[in-house]
Amino acid sequence: MPKLQLALDAIGLEDALTLLGRIRDHVDIIEIGTPFLMEYGLEAIRRVKAALPRHEVLCDGKIMDAGDYEARQMFAAGADYVTVLAVTDEQTVAACVKAAREHGGKVMADMICANGLAGTARRMEALGADVVAVHTGVDQQAVGRTPLQDLAELKQCVRQAQVAVAGGIRADTVEAYLRLAPDIVIVGGGILSQPDRVSAAETLYRAIHGNA
Ligand code: 5RP
Ligand code: MG
Repeated sequence: MPKLQLALDAIGLEDALTLLGRIRDHVDIIEIGTPFLMEYGLEAIRRVKAALPRHEVLCDGKIMDAGDYEARQMFAAGADYVTVLAVTDEQTVAACVKAAREHGGKVMADMICANGLAGTARRMEALGADVVAVHTGVDQQAVGRTPLQDLAELKQCVRQAQVAVAGGIRADTVEAYLRLAPDIVIVGGGILSQPDRVSAAETLYRAIHGNA
């Protein structure tokens, strides 16, 4: 069964905690989004984990260097997953993986802007990434790109890692992604930019988990 990951990007901390209280049964992984992390720092991880201790928390730090130090900081604050950019040095990815093993956490390798999807994904798996994510960034979305084709390609080449997909996914497009059987569906604006965020989260969660 795929998981729904809510990316807390453009939202204030108190607002986010209120929203999470209302949608706690309709989200599996709570992402401390990159802009949210920039605004509130590691305290955001602590506050979210304290409020919803049974939920998995992912820190979207998009680690690019100093993998050991940065991953450890995020895990120590309570993250269950950290993200590392697949385009970075292999040493950085390996350091994040080592930190994850020591903290009982996981590493998601974000393939944003990576050239050669299949080769990069295999390298991420060989380095021990637990999850490999195809990701069409916000700026790529603005010129009409989506991660659907990348997800289809990734599913063909990944062997043991879990597969995640992100990039502008909404309630009216999620079915096309689900047909490709990702393990994690990441949604930011598809919930946070909707007029009724609670109902958007419920709709997406039901699409992913069925009505059970
Ligand atoms: C941008 C991100 C976002 O969290 C990710 O793209 C999900 O948000 P959205 O569904 O709005 O695209 O990491 O770099
Ligand atoms: Mg994100």
